Amino acid sequence: MKKLAAGNWKMNGSLAALAEVRALLAAHPAPACEMLLCPPATLLAAMAGVAAGTALAVGGQDCHPQGSGAHTGDISAAMLKEAGAAYVILGHSERRADHGETDALVKAKAEAAHGAGLIPIICVGETEAERDAGKTLGVIGTQLYGSLPKDFTSANLVVAYEPVWAIGTGRTPSLDEIAEVHHYLRARLIAKIGGDATKLRLLYGGSVKPSNAVEIFDVQNVDGALVGGASLKAADFGAIVQALSAA
Ligand code: 13P
Repeated sequence: MKKLAAGNWKMNGSLAALAEVRALLAAHPAPACEMLLCPPATLLAAMAGVAAGTALAVGGQDCHPQGSGAHTGDISAAMLKEAGAAYVILGHSERRADHGETDALVKAKAEAAHGAGLIPIICVGETEAERDAGKTLGVIGTQLYGSLPKDFTSANLVVAYEPVWAIGTGRTPSLDEIAEVHHYLRARLIAKIGGDATKLRLLYGGSVKPSNAVEIFDVQNVDGALVGGASLKAADFGAIVQALSAA
């Protein structure tokens, strides 16, 4: 299994920010892990141009479940693919909260992504209130089982655990808490598809930065990270890529 350092630029970045991508590639031309950046859709083709022939893959942040049609403002999986994407983040908590995305919709999007040859990164995670109420694993299990596409394998799916309360806050769960959720995700995926799930990459996301990456990557069943703010700067994301390459 090749571990995955994924960056989610969210609604940040511009053509000028592609200088950070060039700097990242200059410093890390051949990392031992896989490297992925998911910019806003408007930057996808330009970033794919910078990434062509390098170790960097690019991805989208969302797609529509249908291939084309009267859906103003939406983008299909095939359109992302044509723009150069290899991956697409789906069911991010910001999409679930801002756009009311349900597990069933995330599942439909993941199946559309597969239809277009993209690898979905399905995000799950509890709110702080859910964690405080002791509901973390139940919430995550429900999200996971409701969002999984049919016919997934370790080669065509990535799952990211992103506790909602850890995103953009500088707070992270304890290493034991991360281990507990990742162990649970692994067990649920093995229950679904058997031994191949031992190779399915499980990312942790939520306030990952150079100063905590080494200890997080040391946690069992953490096969990479989904990084928000720290993926915008080449130096920070590069340090995370380096930590994962050494893990
Ligand atoms: P931060 O790394 O900024 O906390 O964001 C995490 C995230 O939501 C990645 O998808």
